[in-house]
Amino acid sequence: MSANPDISVIAPVITIDGPSASGKGTVAQLVSEKLGFHYLDSGALYRIVALAAQQNNIAWDAAEALGKLAESLNISFKNGEVYLGETNITEAVRSEEISRGASEVAIHPQVRNALFALQQSFRKAPGLVADGRDMGSVVFTDAKLKIFLTASVEVRAERRHQQYLGKGLMADFAQILHDLQQRDLRDSRRSASPLIQTPDAVPLDTTNRNIQQTVEFVLTAYKNILQN
Ligand code: DC
Repeated sequence: MSANPDISVIAPVITIDGPSASGKGTVAQLVSEKLGFHYLDSGALYRIVALAAQQNNIAWDAAEALGKLAESLNISFKNGEVYLGETNITEAVRSEEISRGASEVAIHPQVRNALFALQQSFRKAPGLVADGRDMGSVVFTDAKLKIFLTASVEVRAERRHQQYLGKGLMADFAQILHDLQQRDLRDSRRSASPLIQTPDAVPLDTTNRNIQQTVEFVLTAYKNILQN
């Protein structure tokens, strides 16, 4: 037996990258449950940095200070909830303000470098499903399956709009659409690990697919890879 077992066999990775509100979080979580794999919501890490910066009066453009802050954070996930130290911040990191902050802090290489090893530490047997922007292109380049999820910005805005209304929250469709367009631009035009579809990623447009159909697509693609 090899003294250095191959991590890609012991802990295979499926990456699901795509723009904001493309449904990748829900899809990734369901795929991980079906396969009994671990799950990494990498966007949550950038959201936590944005929230912690706000709490510590660090501006979202203060690259050096943000990098040091990201290195020092005590982040954990328990039963699908997000913790900073002992505090449950699951709801706090999902606000529109922190969504914008996450996209702003994520442009800094100092922040991305600080979170790199933490993201890789989620890779454990029997496997990992990771969603974000650069899971397949930077963090898990040897992933067994890379999915690039898209949907038109209007459809994504409408899904987000319905989510807010479903929670009984006030929501302005035009504002949501505008915010998503701004975030798309920032996430795909930044120089550090921009949102890009790599040649080895499978494109999956969910404009006319529901969550279940999307999950089935990913599971079938993964089974096909295992059989070949
Ligand atoms: O996936 P999300 O919407 O929760 O991500 C929030 C922000 O974090 C997103 O606008 C860009 C950033 N992000 C990133 O730069 N790289 C990742 N792998 C995940 C998220």
